[in-house]
Amino acid sequence: MLIRKLLTHERPLFVAHLKRLTPSDRQFRFAHAHVSDDVIDRYVAGIAMDDLILGCFADDQLAGAAHVAFAGDLAEVGVSVDPDHRAQGIGAELFRRASRWARNRHAERLYTLCQTDNRAMIALAVKLGMVIHRESGTAEAFLALAPPDLLTVSDEVSVGMNTVFRDWADVMRTCRGVWLPTRT
Ligand SMILES: CC(C)(COP(=O)(O)OP(=O)(O)OC[C@H]1O[C@@H](n2cnc3c(N)ncnc32)[C@H](O)[C@@H]1OP(=O)(O)O)[C@@H](O)C(=O)NCCC(=O)NCCS
Repeated sequence: MLIRKLLTHERPLFVAHLKRLTPSDRQFRFAHAHVSDDVIDRYVAGIAMDDLILGCFADDQLAGAAHVAFAGDLAEVGVSVDPDHRAQGIGAELFRRASRWARNRHAERLYTLCQTDNRAMIALAVKLGMVIHRESGTAEAFLALAPPDLLTVSDEVSVGMNTVFRDWADVMRTCRGVWLPTRT
């Protein structure tokens, strides 16, 4: 499995991933009911360019994703994993990666909002050492973040280089198709 930043032109993969979630998973992911395809389209279209979308690829398919939005010293994370790829540690790894990258942007706390009956997310938050505040059906989980260090920075740099090389390889494959048309 490969976890890397999604490039802007890959956002439709994120849309498709979110639209594969069942109605109840959508409710868990967005902490409110009736999340239609239109809501998902508007949500992704509204993601700021400097927000981070991490994608987890398994067999070249987007199997999970984390959106990290920054507000002052707070980094808010929303995570989802395709049902077929759950319970393999992908959710936990997306969170760990998101927290390292949030540290690199000098965020001091990681935050996620979920519903109190979201057993998987609550279990995940506990496992990650998050402090959970529960109130009338919702749970807010916080994790204090340390300042960036060599490991957090080198992690982001190495994943970034991997992404650039993959993107470059994709461009070259596309160009080869344009410059060297196949014979009929
Ligand atoms: C929450 C979610 C992201 C977890 O993804 P995942 O890849 O299955 O999580 P992991 O495999 O990393 O599991 C993390 C821990 O949670 C526990 N867990 C997972 N599903 C669970 C469940 N249904 N009930 C109780 N615990 C559960 C696992 O036991 C695991 O701990 P372990 O490794 O010690 O066994 C996934 O269920 C999901 O996408 N749900 C819908 C969207 C959502 O709820 N997002 C969260 C709100 S932003």
